[in-house]
Amino acid sequence: MEVVIAPAGELARLAADAVQGLLTARPGVVLGLATGSSPLAVYDELARRHAEEGLSFARARAFMLDEYVGLAADHPQRYRNVIDKEFAARVDLAPGAVRGPDGLAEDLPAACAAYEADIAQAGGVDLQLLGIGTDGHIAFNEPGSSLASRTRIKTLTRQTREDNARFFGGSVEQVPRHCLTQGLATIMSARHLVLLASGRAKAEAVHQLVEGPISAMWPATIMQTHPHATVLVDDAAASRL
Ligand code: GLP
Repeated sequence: MEVVIAPAGELARLAADAVQGLLTARPGVVLGLATGSSPLAVYDELARRHAEEGLSFARARAFMLDEYVGLAADHPQRYRNVIDKEFAARVDLAPGAVRGPDGLAEDLPAACAAYEADIAQAGGVDLQLLGIGTDGHIAFNEPGSSLASRTRIKTLTRQTREDNARFFGGSVEQVPRHCLTQGLATIMSARHLVLLASGRAKAEAVHQLVEGPISAMWPATIMQTHPHATVLVDDAAASRL
């Protein structure tokens, strides 16, 4: 695992460089997209490179990490809508090129299995962007998640619902209780993992991720066994290393 400590403003450029390098080598790349605030600056930078430098996503495809269960199709915090607004609508991805788990499906386990099949059929994810929760979750794999897990339904912890309440007008009660998330094994099958973390609130999670024992109690620690994982952190997030 490669750990890069850089000023916050530099992290997004480094992640965007990795995406651009892949796209340049192989335009039909499969990207893995994350939500949360951590990757937003990466999407800004990729959108800028698209607009100003002609970086094209026209032949790329993308898979999202996770989705809330039960949020209305037009809810602004539905991850599908967040990704469309923050990234897909700002670049030239083809219609239908971005897929996500269907949190409105009647049969949620079947939707999870179908999503795994879609990823496999696309040949797997080439580069997966990741954030990390303060409790060490990646995607929505909360502490205690099986290290061998695939896409499935999970119950969100109180901590995560509190952390994400800021996106729901500050009300934890408005944050859904369940989600669909790629499993840890799903994420680990991506060929390159690029995790971004900034701010002191992430320092303990980053410490565990980089220096802790591999444990389902700190799900991100599974990344230590990945052959190509890059961890991009600012000084505050690296303050416990
Ligand atoms: C949510 C997402 C995760 C993300 C985490 C951290 O729980 N499902 O993918 O990593 O938030 O979010 P932030 O980057 O806003 O701190």
